[in-house]
Amino acid sequence: MHVTHLSLADFRSYARAEVPLDPGVTAFVGPNGQGKTNLVEAVGYLATLGSHRVSSDAPLVRMGAERAVVRAAVRQGDRQQLVELELNPGRANRARINRSSQVRPRDVLGIVRTVLFAPEDLALVKGDPGERRRFLDELVTARSPRMAGVRSDYERVLKQRNTLLKSAAMARRHGGRSMDLSTLDVWDQHLARAGAELLAQRLDLIATLLPLADKAYEQLAPGGGPLGLAYRCSAGEPVDSGAARSREELYEVLLQALAQVRKQEIERGVTLVGPHRDDVLLRLGELPAKGYASHGESWSYALALRLASYELLRAEGSEPVLILDDVFAELDARRRERLAELVAPGEQVLVTAAVDDDVPGVLAGARFGVSGGEVTRL
Ligand SMILES: Nc1ncnc2c1ncn2[C@@H]1O[C@H](COP(=O)(O)OP(=O)(O)O)[C@@H](O)[C@H]1O
Ligand SMILES: [Mg+2]
Repeated sequence: MHVTHLSLADFRSYARAEVPLDPGVTAFVGPNGQGKTNLVEAVGYLATLGSHRVSSDAPLVRMGAERAVVRAAVRQGDRQQLVELELNPGRANRARINRSSQVRPRDVLGIVRTVLFAPEDLALVKGDPGERRRFLDELVTARSPRMAGVRSDYERVLKQRNTLLKSAAMARRHGGRSMDLSTLDVWDQHLARAGAELLAQRLDLIATLLPLADKAYEQLAPGGGPLGLAYRCSAGEPVDSGAARSREELYEVLLQALAQVRKQEIERGVTLVGPHRDDVLLRLGELPAKGYASHGESWSYALALRLASYELLRAEGSEPVLILDDVFAELDARRRERLAELVAPGEQVLVTAAVDDDVPGVLAGARFGVSGGEVTRL
């Protein structure tokens, strides 16, 4: 698929922007702070309902404005669709498809598909477990948009269960009556149900992603691998990827783990087991990448994970838009050339760079200048 037109209103620094786009490579070039990333961030938002830079919507709405609108015309084969999201921080966001009446925002998932490379990706390797969970869950949702519903169920159950645990912890501390634990049993089941679904999808993703990431790493940094991805489950097992586990098995694993930590949970007032506490251990050769890999190796690792995501999504459905936000300036000449060659054949590639020289030669294509809030075709 590719985007044929991007339209913004009160998104980030843009009061308005209208950007016609073609398939192939398009580069947005201009000095720092002019709004290049803001443009591609908007495209990424349509694909994930989130930003790669911030965790809440508020900064995405132009300072002083009440709401932002991001709209894109999307072509997939012969089919043309229009998707629109209205961001209302503090209230529910709204969505429309083809100008028809409203749908839930999560119903637009799957229409715009992206794989976004950005300097922030280094945190996939060096950062906290939350970064890797977000990577997995975004990809799980891109593969299967119905997972957005499962994720939001899980979040909701987790929040309510935590509230219950917190009041139990309070009651305990203040010598109040102990809680009726049968209520907690019900929440355990809800948590384990949604958790098992998410866990199954994450494990399947990791098993599918590993050979692709390994191949991509070999192309970027020959002889540097192999990569290993091991799922670290707060419920104790399953640890290594590849082990296909049924949802029912995972449900039992989670329920048992919850039963085991219940006493601690009531003491601490928080849910200690579940996908929200898991991590993926990234290995490079025999060593963990985090804490051991060099800066360059960490970069190659992050790029390999993104390239693998791209291969996976295009193999399983319509080809995603590749977005490369300011990444070439971060790489040495060799990695820069390799990456450029690997992404160049993409159906649509959107690149941002401060100067023309940062865009490798194989990515010749359309150019827009971005300066002073104006986006101009060069
Ligand atoms: N919500 C917002 N309202 C107004 N301006 C914003 C908002 N968010 C970011 N900006 C401005 O956008 C600019 C950054 O744009 P960005 O796309 O990141 O630049 P670059 O061209 O370097 O990629 C900054 O000057 C920042 O002040
Ligand atoms: Mg930028």
